[in-house]
Amino acid sequence: MTHRQEIERRRTLAVIAHPDAGKTTLTEKLLLFGGAIHIAGAVKSNKIRKSTTSDFMEIERQRGISVSTSVMTFEYKDRKINILDTPGHEDFAEDTYRTLTAVDSVIIVIDGAKGVETQTRRLMDVCRMRNTPVIVFVNKFDRDAKDAFDLLDEIEMELQIKALPLTWAIGSGSMFKGVYSRYDNKLLLFSAADKQRLSDEVLEISDLQSSEAQAALGAEVTDRLTDDLEMLAAVYPEFDRQEYEAGKLAPVFFGSAVNNFGVKELLDCFVQIAPQPQKLTTDLRETDPFETKLTGFIFKIHANLDPNHRDRIAFLKICSGTFERNKAYLHVPSGKALKFSSPNAFLADKKTIVERSFPGDIVGLHDTGNFKIGDTFTEGEVLNFKGIPSFAPELFRYIENADPLKSKQLAKGIDQLMDEGVAQLFTKKMNGRKIIGCVGMLQFDVIQYRLEHEYGAKCRYEPLHLHKACWFTCDDKAQLDDFMMRKDNNIALDKYGRNVFLADSPYILQTAMEKFDKITFHFTSEF
Ligand code: G4P
Repeated sequence: MTHRQEIERRRTLAVIAHPDAGKTTLTEKLLLFGGAIHIAGAVKSNKIRKSTTSDFMEIERQRGISVSTSVMTFEYKDRKINILDTPGHEDFAEDTYRTLTAVDSVIIVIDGAKGVETQTRRLMDVCRMRNTPVIVFVNKFDRDAKDAFDLLDEIEMELQIKALPLTWAIGSGSMFKGVYSRYDNKLLLFSAADKQRLSDEVLEISDLQSSEAQAALGAEVTDRLTDDLEMLAAVYPEFDRQEYEAGKLAPVFFGSAVNNFGVKELLDCFVQIAPQPQKLTTDLRETDPFETKLTGFIFKIHANLDPNHRDRIAFLKICSGTFERNKAYLHVPSGKALKFSSPNAFLADKKTIVERSFPGDIVGLHDTGNFKIGDTFTEGEVLNFKGIPSFAPELFRYIENADPLKSKQLAKGIDQLMDEGVAQLFTKKMNGRKIIGCVGMLQFDVIQYRLEHEYGAKCRYEPLHLHKACWFTCDDKAQLDDFMMRKDNNIALDKYGRNVFLADSPYILQTAMEKFDKITFHFTSEF
């Protein structure tokens, strides 16, 4: 296969959802269709069900299994599909945001009874920032669900994207009869199939008016379905691929992941319409996947659980060219040429050493603590990919050393955990006190636990009530100096030495923005 063909057949996606909507179940069914696993249950759910702070032990356990499910690869209809896993718990939303920087499209799973939930909305905001193409799967129609028309309205309103139903649910719960595929005009009848394996039991009927359809649905349901389909045809326009690719229109599918129902239709459509690896923006130029030279960036770092092997796996997204084992590449931040003798590729439940990888693929690189999120690799060119931001955190604590003999270990541990993107570190300008900023409470426990178990260091937290930490820049030196002087107790530096404003309350932030009108406040680290 040529380099071009290899790239053209790759589809890299993330399945995202509010916890419990069915992300793990759907991912697993996609892998079943791709033959990557043969029985359901092979993909361990990495979500944390309870959200109490004592869950960090559970997180540790799950961190261990989640490395193997970080990237799940399978083949379907000549496409090579890479699914990038995202954490289930919302305290780790920032991991999910970063993973979204490495995909070319997403599938959003929505619970048919609950509709669009908070986390779905937030994740969609991130997709919108990047115009990521989105397909929606409305799940759990085997249970009582909201009205399908209402769900479409909700998707449009809440996710701010045009919805286009490509399949249509016939009833829900005990009245769930199946789905009608509007794109190939077929009726698929629901039967609670073998949940663990794939079966061909789905009955397909191509003529709604046939006696077979009437017998299966009954006259009343057939009439209602006919009306619904007429209404859909009148209200929703034809599928416009460009609009989908621009992230403006979301094809919508209905089904039941746990019953394997409606999933094949979703996958068949996905392989037809989902985009191949795309051009990407850097601070120097746009990269094209078909270029011969390698470019790529690290979007995730996974620390080893075993304290005797403190190496980490850095996940490199290949953006252009070819990645080859034992070939030297430039690690742009350090300026060093590095070779990798055992880069990993990921299968559904295991990793293997890979000789060559192509744009769209993810390669696992062994790292002894030198890489951080966003680092670029090239064949010599000095460029940095854009769009891999950190978000302004909203939860803060002072972090103090609880064991004076271990201050070196603590500093190293904090440094490496921040490189991994677990949280953000700010140093107060006035007194040098260190502040950890997170997006979720659980991260504080994770940091404390990992500092102790991986670095032998002990830390203590002290409460700190802040509304937000945001970056700021200003060309007007006089105003900047004035701001820095007046707010000196609320100014810190981030890990890279950039100025950060620690706002005590929304009101203070608002008044600062009004009063210091020449200062730009930034709510993501990329500006
Ligand atoms: P998540 O990754 O999005 O958090 O959700 P997950 O797939 O783990 O699914 C959450 C729960 O919803 C699971 O039940 C799962 O079996 C169920 N589920 C998923 N798809 C469907 C569906 O189409 N219909 C119905 N009725 N249920 C569905 P659980 O009881 O929490 O776990 P389990 O013991 O069944 O694994």
